[in-house]
Amino acid sequence: MLVTNDQVAFEKYHLYPTTGLLNDPNGLVFFKGQYHVFYQWNPYDCNHKYKEWGHFVSDDLKTWQRVETALKPSLDNLDSAGIYSGAAFVSNERLYVFYTGNVRDKDGHSVKSSQMWAVSDDGIHFEKLGELFPHPEGFTKDVRDPMVWQGKNGHYFLILGAQHTDKIGDIIVYESVDFKTWDYRGSLLGEQLPDVRGYMLECPGFIEVDGKQILMFSPQGLSADPLKHQYENIHNTGYVIGHFDESAARFIVETKFKEVDQGFEFYAPQTMIAPDGRRIMWGWAGMMTPEREKAVPTIKEKQWVHVLSLPRELHVNSSNELIQKPITEVIETTNLEVFDGVDVGQYRIPTSDDWLIKFGEHAILKRRGNVLVFERRQWDSGQVETRQFSGNLDNLLLVVDNDVIEAYTDDGLHVMTNRWF
Ligand code: FRU
Repeated sequence: MLVTNDQVAFEKYHLYPTTGLLNDPNGLVFFKGQYHVFYQWNPYDCNHKYKEWGHFVSDDLKTWQRVETALKPSLDNLDSAGIYSGAAFVSNERLYVFYTGNVRDKDGHSVKSSQMWAVSDDGIHFEKLGELFPHPEGFTKDVRDPMVWQGKNGHYFLILGAQHTDKIGDIIVYESVDFKTWDYRGSLLGEQLPDVRGYMLECPGFIEVDGKQILMFSPQGLSADPLKHQYENIHNTGYVIGHFDESAARFIVETKFKEVDQGFEFYAPQTMIAPDGRRIMWGWAGMMTPEREKAVPTIKEKQWVHVLSLPRELHVNSSNELIQKPITEVIETTNLEVFDGVDVGQYRIPTSDDWLIKFGEHAILKRRGNVLVFERRQWDSGQVETRQFSGNLDNLLLVVDNDVIEAYTDDGLHVMTNRWF
């Protein structure tokens, strides 16, 4: 995952900012022969006060180039304090991106969000097209992260993460016949999934994988269930499988809500379709409490913070579960034989015996029977914390980068993404 125009490679496999703070992947798309990964970026500081769309481009999903920022806030505009997350849609050889404009008051509080769009003919330079539609009634200012697709009936659908005025999370949907005027169609979920609404649902994504329709989103405000090892992160990301009823503009949920990743840090994923049909997902490996974020060692050492996950090819297995594997372009594994002093690299662990790997001074990954445990000493508080799951751990794939470790097991059924310092 080399970034060809970087002087120093701080990560071997993961995309990272050269300065400032990176969060969600945005606008993932293959357009006119190139792969585009945009991302939430504050190039000026390692905080969330300002966001633009940083931009990586690749010809082959192996080497990347940093190119100029795609979208920046415009003073006196509805996006004056931030170009928030959103998605891409290609139509008539033009690349449209949909995003949320953020406005802050003089004290720095976010006070308004607007759904906006922009267009590009070369994938690099964008022309802003303004606001799409007025703010929906019955919702707080927390409405954001548009994603667009074309339905089987030819109409366009746009979904957004939203918070009702009574502080319950939802996903809302708009429909357009002409790609210009959008009708509000209400909640995408109706009364379904009452247990995972939290106070806000961020970054909704509607995708098709192996003929199955999937709705992915990132709820805020779920209560952790440590016994079930569920929802243990500050915010979590999960998915349901079902089908989208176009005439009712409603997603009919057919499975339980399941977390996408079992580790400490994976959030706000998006996907793109490669020309060969693969559905490839990236997430943000950095969702954590503000206190922890401030203490991330890369801030002091290198003046940047956070990385994107590896790109993962998605499938659905015969039990209707999501399967994730790093795309073949980034794989270069060797079998791990010695478990001491494991450093940056990719490893297969073919053994079904128990094992333990130490990473530096503060992190351990261990197999105990069919349980995989990642244990680390917190870099801010010094406390020890763990994430774990059970499954078939034979033939585990481990990708170790400078400050992030990803483990893939059970043929991609379980994945764990953890930062380590
Ligand atoms: C998710 C998120 C999005 C928002 C963006 C702002 O991490 O909070 O909902 O658009 O980050 O950077």
